[in-house]
Amino acid sequence: MKKILITGGMGYIGSHVINLFLNKNYNVTVIDKILFGSNSLLSFIGNDNFKFFNLDIRESEEIEKIFKKNNFNAVIHLAALVGEAACKRNKDDTFSINYQSTVNLAKVSEKYNVENFIFMSTASSYGVQDINEIATEETKLNPVSLYAESKINSEKELLDKYSDKMSVTIFRPSTVHGISPRMRFDLIVNHLSLDAFKNNEISVFGPKMWRPLMWVGEPARVFDLVLNSKKNKVKSQIFNLGSDYENFQKIDIANCLKENFFTNLKIDITDKDPDLRSYRVSFKKIENLLNYKTKKTLKDAIGEILLFLKNNTEIDPKSSYFKN
Ligand SMILES: NC(=O)c1ccc[n+]([C@@H]2O[C@H](COP(=O)([O-])OP(=O)(O)OC[C@H]3O[C@@H](n4cnc5c(N)ncnc54)[C@H](O)[C@@H]3O)[C@@H](O)[C@H]2O)c1
Repeated sequence: MKKILITGGMGYIGSHVINLFLNKNYNVTVIDKILFGSNSLLSFIGNDNFKFFNLDIRESEEIEKIFKKNNFNAVIHLAALVGEAACKRNKDDTFSINYQSTVNLAKVSEKYNVENFIFMSTASSYGVQDINEIATEETKLNPVSLYAESKINSEKELLDKYSDKMSVTIFRPSTVHGISPRMRFDLIVNHLSLDAFKNNEISVFGPKMWRPLMWVGEPARVFDLVLNSKKNKVKSQIFNLGSDYENFQKIDIANCLKENFFTNLKIDITDKDPDLRSYRVSFKKIENLLNYKTKKTLKDAIGEILLFLKNNTEIDPKSSYFKN
């Protein structure tokens, strides 16, 4: 039985990973500080293959004790301050959580003979790109946020110092959308869907700006693929994660909502967006090397978000639990 440690497993993406891995009968240990409530924890508690530590990943001594007692085959490192807004508010924490803890976790993983170390970086690192170009893993990064910088520095350190013995695999995922046990309404598709549902009106800033998008369950599928792939395909590799068919301009999201769900939707457009990111990404490498294709589309995810909102009228999607 595979023994997997997931940091940040209580989060938006991590909850899907736990769900899939428990279904596959993996033994799952999660370290998470529960920054956004324990809803997702409730779904897994009681499963014999699930262990949870409410712990800050900066607690390096405690973390080492956990490694000593468990023979992890793989570590999936998701815990982070996620997104530019959260990182801007907490600059020192961004450094200690997103960068220093990543390095420490890699160090302890190597020491305790972990075979696979998977790190979630971000496609935001492409930042502002010439939109006539499509960014591959080789494209020069152009981060416009502390968040992206913290991920780039971690990528470099992992590949430079910890990828000899361990198989280190790094993902630069698209922006994620859809439903999860830890829901987020601060991500572009989710918040536009929410506004359309509540007000029949949405505001789109920078309608022509490009953003690759992806369903929130995709990372879980691809992590499983990595754990079951030959090492020579995944070791010391960086993969863009998403689909060539899901590079969208922001206005495409609005149009998808209007054409498929809200025919009378009012769309307010502001040409300028303080968020300068605009990038189109190539996902050829992951498709060719791992034979990976995404499963759900933007329209599928919006349908699920709307179903969730219709059936959960008691929740307040504007509450701090639902945004980073
Ligand atoms: N959501 C996206 O669109 C997206 C896109 C690209 C990359 N990513 C990356 O994927 C990963 C997961 O993102 P997410 O959207 O699930 O975010 P999330 O904020 O929902 O999850 C992060 C989890 O990490 C935990 N955490 C934060 N600081 C911690 C600490 N010091 N110690 C222990 N736990 C801590 C939080 O409690 C939370 O459960 C992150 O590394 C993020 O950078 C996300």
